[in-house]
Amino acid sequence: MKPLPGTRTPEKRIARMLRVNLAGEYGAQRIYEGQLAVLKNHSCAPLLEHMKEQEMVHLKHFETWVVDHHVRPTALQPLWHVAGYALGVATGLLGEKAAMACTAAVEEVIDQHYEGQLKELGEQDPRLSALISACQEDEQAHRDIALEQGPAYPRLSSAIKGASRLAIWLSERI
Ligand SMILES: [Fe+2]
Ligand SMILES: [Fe+2]
Repeated sequence: MKPLPGTRTPEKRIARMLRVNLAGEYGAQRIYEGQLAVLKNHSCAPLLEHMKEQEMVHLKHFETWVVDHHVRPTALQPLWHVAGYALGVATGLLGEKAAMACTAAVEEVIDQHYEGQLKELGEQDPRLSALISACQEDEQAHRDIALEQGPAYPRLSSAIKGASRLAIWLSERI
């Protein structure tokens, strides 16, 4: 049966998920790189390094999926390259607590984003669901570690959440 006009086929929905996840994991890695550029001699550096390495693993997985499924990466990749890094540097310059507030804010949004995808996928693609769940677990851990440092910047944090949601929305579409 032909899908109704305006209805996305399962393949298109999965392509859209892979595109946004690749962009998100790429952006996350760039945020940690930016923070590390500023905070490399601080006590939080090994933690940032650890989280960055986990993002690189997530990124590798989604890169493989994007290639295997012939998904076009988002045209906004160069923007996330710069914006992710800039967000990392900016929050890093504000100090360790602001860097952690940034992580807590971004990871909270990503956790909700992955939760939404898992619901949308249902039983459709168990391998993809398993990957998303594994990433989600790491993102929840990042969020919790960051929250332990105290959410000291409510306004910064809500601005970052808004920007992250916008980045997700754009990466799904462009
Ligand atoms: Fe990640
Ligand atoms: Fe993460």
